[in-house]
Amino acid sequence: MEHSRDIADVPGRPSAAGWVSRVNFDPPLIAVSLSRDHHTSRGIDENGTFSLCFPGRNLVEKTDYCGLVSGKDVDKSGVFTTYMGDTGTAPMIEECRFCLELRVNNTMELPGDNVYVGEIVSAFADETMLVKGSPDVKKMDLFFLTMPDNNYWVLGEKIGDAYSVGDALIDK
Ligand SMILES: Cc1cc2nc3c(=O)[nH]c(=O)nc-3n(C[C@H](O)[C@H](O)[C@H](O)COP(=O)(O)O)c2cc1C
Repeated sequence: MEHSRDIADVPGRPSAAGWVSRVNFDPPLIAVSLSRDHHTSRGIDENGTFSLCFPGRNLVEKTDYCGLVSGKDVDKSGVFTTYMGDTGTAPMIEECRFCLELRVNNTMELPGDNVYVGEIVSAFADETMLVKGSPDVKKMDLFFLTMPDNNYWVLGEKIGDAYSVGDALIDK
């Protein structure tokens, strides 16, 4: 017998999120700020898990599309191929060369948005993108969003070594 499902119950629909940041060193926690109205927020609230998948420039159009339409209205499950990780409820995107699977550690309710703080459960990387076991940002060819101009960019030139380029100014 076929069971009809409300479109909002189709799992594994991706969304675009630019407001993402690491927020704790140990354990490694990552926060993402999402409007409470988003379909994605509903899924995170229900499952207590989510994934963050970092798209390369070849996925800019599909990523933007996922940020233009809501899973409440459109079935986005066919945009990418997904696979499950350890939690079984946070689908990862096959086409993304680097994905993190997270379990919600904390949820901060702001006036319109929820800040979901997630603890990394697993990390998945295309092995060809790794250098000495770590993801290489140049190889991943990621793109970035800037606001308020609303543009996408790829990585520019390296301008210094973090945590050491400022050494010269210490004790001066
Ligand atoms: C590049 C881009 C970045 C976005 N970043 C965020 C974000 O950080 N937080 C947020 O609440 N919405 C963000 N959005 C808007 C949501 O992705 C958009 O409202 C989407 O339709 C929500 O889909 P959902 O209802 O299926 O979750 C972004 C959209 C784009 C195009």
